[in-house]
Amino acid sequence: MNNQGQKDYWNGAAGETWVESQERLDKLLGPLSDIAIERAAPRPGERVIDVGCGCGTTSAQLARCGAAVWGIDISEPMLAHAKARFKGTENLGFSIADAVAQRFTPDHQLMFSRFGVMFFDDPVAAFRNLRTALEAEGWLVFLCWQEAAKNQWLSVAGRAVQPFLSPPAAPTPSGPDPFAFADTQYVTSILNQSGFRDIQFDSLTPQLHLADDLEGAIRFQTRVGPLARVLGELEGEVRDKALDAARGALAAHLTPDGLKLKAAAWLVTARAA
Ligand SMILES: C[S@@+](CC[C@H](N)C(=O)[O-])C[C@H]1O[C@@H](n2cnc3c(N)ncnc32)[C@H](O)[C@@H]1O
Repeated sequence: MNNQGQKDYWNGAAGETWVESQERLDKLLGPLSDIAIERAAPRPGERVIDVGCGCGTTSAQLARCGAAVWGIDISEPMLAHAKARFKGTENLGFSIADAVAQRFTPDHQLMFSRFGVMFFDDPVAAFRNLRTALEAEGWLVFLCWQEAAKNQWLSVAGRAVQPFLSPPAAPTPSGPDPFAFADTQYVTSILNQSGFRDIQFDSLTPQLHLADDLEGAIRFQTRVGPLARVLGELEGEVRDKALDAARGALAAHLTPDGLKLKAAAWLVTARAA
């Protein structure tokens, strides 16, 4: 229950890939996090924690509202990148910290996360610990993905290569599962058990700009997400054929403005009970 698998994952190739793809990922996820930050609306002087802050983009956005922001994450390469990008920003700091284990003081007004809270071994223990950082009436605002089928931007290519796996991949991937919080009842139960109330889910369903062209999308998805995971298990001719299948599946979504695919996220808000 110490999130060791996640620490290995985000400190390995995945962390490096997120650093290298930071600009593209920010462009991709920006339309969603802009809405979440607008909803969170931190006021000048408020104390905010950005959980699983990664390369620090949302932490810096929150700090630009005048809040004092503390970005925490378990990934050394991503946090090193965050620190380098925002060196010298006065009201912004970053620490290596596991959401389940970090000791907090109860003097924060807002706990924020862009897709950084779905990966805990024991979600109730993690959210109970995060709750200890919030003052009475403190606010939790985070984004998580709805189910894979509604997130074509991530699932279309991965699904196209499934037939090339022998045996087919188990339905529950062994790696980090970005869709772990798709079920609102499950998330509600976690938050209720962790000391939160007034839990609200807003469905955000934008089209996301995956890449300017097909090859850009392939370059990106062979490094991040389900396609990358499946391709990692294939070799030689089978891998080439699988890649062609992924290319074909993505090509169906090419528009004159680039590759646009449907996404579905939950914007979750809750009050500290
Ligand atoms: C999908 S990435 C999102 C990164 C960033 N929020 C963004 O939107 O660019 C998930 C992040 O959660 C972090 N993470 C996973 N488990 C964590 C934990 N137990 N405590 C803190 N951060 C964690 C990962 O290291 C990774 O940076």
